[in-house]
Amino acid sequence: MKIGKIDFGNKPVVLAPMEDVTDTSFRLICKEQGADMVYSEFVSADALIRNIAATTRKLTINPAERPTVIQIYGREVEPMVEAAKMVEAAGPDILDINFGCPVKKVAGKGAGAGMLRDIPKMLEITTAVVKAVNIPVTVKTRIGWDCNSIIIRDLAEQLQDCGIEALTVHGRTRSQMYTGNADWNVIASIKDNQRFRIPLIGNGDITSGQLAKEAFDKYGVDGVMVGRASIGAPWIFHEIKSYLNGNSNETISIKEKFDILRRQIRESIDRIDEYRGILHIRRHLAASPLFKGISHFRDTRIEMLRASTFNELDEVLAKIEKRINNEYSYE
Ligand SMILES: Cc1cc2nc3c(=O)[nH]c(=O)nc-3n(C[C@H](O)[C@H](O)[C@H](O)COP(=O)(O)O)c2cc1C
Repeated sequence: MKIGKIDFGNKPVVLAPMEDVTDTSFRLICKEQGADMVYSEFVSADALIRNIAATTRKLTINPAERPTVIQIYGREVEPMVEAAKMVEAAGPDILDINFGCPVKKVAGKGAGAGMLRDIPKMLEITTAVVKAVNIPVTVKTRIGWDCNSIIIRDLAEQLQDCGIEALTVHGRTRSQMYTGNADWNVIASIKDNQRFRIPLIGNGDITSGQLAKEAFDKYGVDGVMVGRASIGAPWIFHEIKSYLNGNSNETISIKEKFDILRRQIRESIDRIDEYRGILHIRRHLAASPLFKGISHFRDTRIEMLRASTFNELDEVLAKIEKRINNEYSYE
């Protein structure tokens, strides 16, 4: 897969944009684990042009995590163009436009997936943003607003004609939010259109190397995007890439996994502060498959998710790590 001048090689696997999750520390860890490209959290165009500090901080990129995509969202042409120029100045490799966010505070106001109900505006914004910057522009969207308006086949070509250089499609409608299953047949059908020739990145419910392989081989996408399965498990990229390279069931050691979680906690604390840094990382700990299947884990899990200092949390993790190593049944 190639976007602009960036060659991602064969079967690239990328980290999805996720609000409050894909900060620069997490992106670098995913990159080290094998992600071929990483996306920022979405950045509000309106907040960016008002110079809101919490938003401008989202433009920070660590050179080691590249290639990095910064994603913006908004509902009007002018602020989107202005924000796109500010993003370009921050030096990402690619600029992505979010036309897929289903949450009310975004889609309800016409931005994100809300734009699926105003295609002329979507195309106008896309064309204007492509014109405004010199880096490749891509779009991430869903298959339609609801099951009665699955418009992605036509929309994909229209977006291509606006000058975008790749398209990511999450195989759900806005109405589905995160329920049901991503429809990979609809994603695949985009490629039936001979006129559609930019790279297509498929997204939705990829949780293993096997599913990623199927996305490439059966559904014909050029790239695969992984979101939720990476939360609390950035090593999913190592597992998927190994599988695609013919090494099924390969993963990193338990010790390496704990080291990664400890590093995430430390970096989150360094970036914010001890209390809020730990709050931020709880979502990763709560979701981590590392803690699944441990017997009588309930109380320890509560202890882990209640710890409010690094030392407390580190102690609980040490206890769990020891238990996993001793627990014959775990593997
Ligand atoms: C916590 C969370 C935050 C998300 N934030 C964004 C976002 O900022 N921009 C975006 O395009 N999609 C966002 N998404 C959607 C994901 O990028 C992805 O499309 C979706 O989770 C489906 O992929 P998955 O099944 O691999 O998780 C978010 C999803 C989650 C779970």
